[in-house]
Amino acid sequence: MYILGIETSCDETSIAIVKDGEEIIENLIFSQIETHKIFGGVVPEVASRLHMEVLNKIFKLAMEKSNLSLKDIDLISVTQGPGLVGALWIGITFAKTLAYALKKPLVGVNHLVGHIFANFLRKDPPNFPFISLVVSGGHTEWILVEDYDRYRLLGKTLDDAAGEAFDKVARLLGLGYPGGPAIEKAAEKGRLIFDFPKIKCERELDISFSGLKTSMLYLIKNLQKEGREIPINDLAFSFQYRVIEELLERSFIALNKFQTSTLVLAGGVVANKYLQKRFSEVSKRENIKLFMPPPILCTDNAAMIASAGYYLYNKGKVDGLDLSADPSLEIF
Ligand code: KG4
Ligand code: ZN
Repeated sequence: MYILGIETSCDETSIAIVKDGEEIIENLIFSQIETHKIFGGVVPEVASRLHMEVLNKIFKLAMEKSNLSLKDIDLISVTQGPGLVGALWIGITFAKTLAYALKKPLVGVNHLVGHIFANFLRKDPPNFPFISLVVSGGHTEWILVEDYDRYRLLGKTLDDAAGEAFDKVARLLGLGYPGGPAIEKAAEKGRLIFDFPKIKCERELDISFSGLKTSMLYLIKNLQKEGREIPINDLAFSFQYRVIEELLERSFIALNKFQTSTLVLAGGVVANKYLQKRFSEVSKRENIKLFMPPPILCTDNAAMIASAGYYLYNKGKVDGLDLSADPSLEIF
């Protein structure tokens, strides 16, 4: 079965063709980052316009490269939400038009579920149940995944998402956008010299980044007041360290609490090499089976949407041509 995946929820326009939910035939991603960089963040109207300009072109290119014809496509899978409403509608309208013209089934996919399914694009995908940590620019959540379509929210951020915190702290440090990769790069030359306080929330599986962000802001202001140089690399490392240790600690609390031995990481922040190193070390020590997608499948892409669409379709999910964008779509 060939699945066409379409992803336009934020600032990546992506088209993928995936076979049987696991084998990537094509996964074309057009990143709009260079344009949004000028503004220091994603501008929704600009994102929609770029999706409109690019989507049909990369769809044609993916079809050409795959050597498949339109009639070979068996299923159309598209991100329904959460995301930017205008951006989502571009992908959904494209998907519905194709589904109608080709008379093929259509499945709307939750973007977060898509991120989890980036781990199913392989021959030996995770077995249920597992704990998934979704860490992206919009979300930080611990989820108990019991089946392809059964999710239980265990804990989440009470304010910013981890990726968002990376982006904001990068701005404070003058490192530009997107912040995650910029902080990672600076941190490679840095040391742990600032011991940011541990993050405490009422519920053990919730997290909050506002205190950490404020600590960073005051630290920078005080250094500036004293006329001292800002040790950007050390601050970047110390911030990255604190965020990742907190993510790690909660992930293992969740694994213990729900007696599961599989941990599935998902979302853009998982592209961070220090995060990968720490999660690998601790998982090995604790005998936990760890799944992390390759970096290109951590950030937004349509292959993960195609994979999720395949498994959900096999579970009986089909959408009609009345499918609409839902910018705050929940999975629970
Ligand atoms: O999953 P994603 O591509 O988009 C959303 O669904 O939000 O994640 C984007 C987020 C951004 O906040 C970006 O700064 C962060 O992922 N990110 C990283 C790294 N690469 C991307 N954060 C830390 N380290 C990285 N290497
Ligand atoms: Zn995403």
